Amino acid sequence: MIVHGGRTLQGEVFISGSKNSALPILAATLLTRDHCIIENVPDLSDIHYMLTILSMLGCEVERASGVVQVKASHIKTEAPYEIVRKMRASVCILGPLLGREHAATVSLPGGCVIGDRPIDLHLRGFEELGATVQVKGGDIHVLASHLQGATINLRGKYGPTVLGTGNIMMAAVLADGMTVIEGAAEEPEVIDLAEVLMKMGAKIHGVGTSRIVIEGVKELHGFTHTVIPDRIEAGTFLIAGAIAGKKLTVRHIIPKHLDALLRALQEAGFDLTSKKESITITSNGPKKPLHIETLPFPGFATDLQAQLCAMLSTIEGVSTMTEHIFPQRFMHLAELKRMGANIELNGATATIIGVHQLSGAPVMASDLRASAALVLAALAADGPTEISRVYHIDRGYEGIDKKLNKLGARIERVSPDISF
Ligand code: EPU
Repeated sequence: MIVHGGRTLQGEVFISGSKNSALPILAATLLTRDHCIIENVPDLSDIHYMLTILSMLGCEVERASGVVQVKASHIKTEAPYEIVRKMRASVCILGPLLGREHAATVSLPGGCVIGDRPIDLHLRGFEELGATVQVKGGDIHVLASHLQGATINLRGKYGPTVLGTGNIMMAAVLADGMTVIEGAAEEPEVIDLAEVLMKMGAKIHGVGTSRIVIEGVKELHGFTHTVIPDRIEAGTFLIAGAIAGKKLTVRHIIPKHLDALLRALQEAGFDLTSKKESITITSNGPKKPLHIETLPFPGFATDLQAQLCAMLSTIEGVSTMTEHIFPQRFMHLAELKRMGANIELNGATATIIGVHQLSGAPVMASDLRASAALVLAALAADGPTEISRVYHIDRGYEGIDKKLNKLGARIERVSPDISF
């Protein structure tokens, strides 16, 4: 991808459905033999991988312009390594397979560029529901003769686990008796999944708090659901507006999902106007450096950390960014430095001294949000930036280059789009 920097962004952009909501919701279709309809599903490679996994498990899967239909009449309980290894979120099929079939085999996800990403909390939760967990030949085998509700604490060293909360909810909805999840994640994506499970007939209370109570039911049925807007895509475009915009509006969003980012942008000196389903960012006057820490929702999202680092690199003064969720998630810093950013990393805190002007350079994307950060930095840079390994960005942003070009950017793909 080649980004020709220095152009001013202006106008409005429509935000797609949330990747991190859609992935576990697609996995939830495994819980029923009935027909399930999911709307507002973004066209992303991670979604494509999940649909492939569902097909390989035996589901009938159809997809047309953002609407996915799944029918899991007869399913297998083993997901093959070749596809599972491509996406860490494949672990979220463990919960529904265990819930419905009392058995699941999925490859253990390998290392990840944003740091060590264990799934010990998911597995401990399954054990507490009565399953046995075995890791053999690189696969996790989870088996249960029967699942019994239990009290499970999912709070780990770095806070609650988002996919872990989803996985345990999906196993517990079909367990006997009552399950209490303490230290549950409160992210909007967890709430969206719980809403789907409730539409399917599950009995869940306390969603959106750190204590979720689930009364197991015997059977679940089909559903129709519209996935919530992607708050991370929305946040990325707001930061694009901050870094290179005059007046930019993000539409089809839920503004309250972005409160922590809005507070940060306001503190930095940007004007923000929120309406029911949109936010407009306007850039006037001088900007101030920030001191930000990533935290579980409603705190500042780790998935926006890299993008905000790109913005802070362009604001005069000394900013700091501390990463509490994935303390090693700083691969983007070395690439930003190649573009002239002045950043020093100490443990999990980056000290960013704003520079007057970033300059275009050849850089390499290391993961999804890091690649978004490089695109944002490139928008503000002098001269062209060539970003390689942009397949990372297609995992989580639907046509980011096309959307930015509509706002006035000039971004070219020098190799063809990946077609799914
Ligand atoms: N953790 C454990 N043990 C576990 C699970 C997690 O120690 O069993 C730790 C992790 O290593 C991390 C922290 O707990 O330090 C939080 O991880 P979490 O489990 O919440 O992450 P996740 O559920 O695997 C989801 C998103 C990520 C997002 C995180 C945090 C999906 C598909 N992924 O991952 O999104 O960063 O929550 O909000 O929902 C992205 O979209 O770019 C992305 C990485």
